Amino acid sequence: MRRVVCPGSFDPITNGHLDIIGRAARLYDEVTVAVLVNIEKSSLFTVDERIEILQAVTKEYPNVRVRKFHGLLVDFCRDNDIPAIVKGIRVVSDFDYELQMAQLNYRLSGVETLFMPTNPEYSFLSSSRVKEIARYGGDVSGLVPDLVHTLLIARLRG
Ligand code: PNS
Repeated sequence: MRRVVCPGSFDPITNGHLDIIGRAARLYDEVTVAVLVNIEKSSLFTVDERIEILQAVTKEYPNVRVRKFHGLLVDFCRDNDIPAIVKGIRVVSDFDYELQMAQLNYRLSGVETLFMPTNPEYSFLSSSRVKEIARYGGDVSGLVPDLVHTLLIARLRG
């Protein structure tokens, strides 16, 4: 069984994330979407809400499962017998940051990191930009799954 993990905060998931998860699901037998529990960072959606959203928007992929994790990603990989991480790269500056993280993770554990170029349609996209646009009344439809769009409007303007 070939396994890979797609880690992130997913606060909230964007269409860019979903594109990477779907493409990984075509390449691997099992994709684990791992949501970081980070008590130091404030979030718009709780971890459990994010997990519910991720489960709903990935339900068309039977080989995708969603979990949360604390601490180091490589420890999660070891505990779940996952030998590789997949990361989307939007722009060159992402690569700068992700390369160091990948080398560190490899040094710590031998877990490999595979980089997947983001669909250019989403190369400008991030969860924080989506939240900012939605907060000020901008239109984020087409940038996030419909469910996220609805929940964002309810959370930010409700
Ligand atoms: O969506 P994000 O916030 O960019 O995701 C970042 C994430 C969760 C992939 C990254 O912060 C992470 O792996 N955190 C876990 C802690 C860890 O393993 N750090 C790397 C070793 S220094």
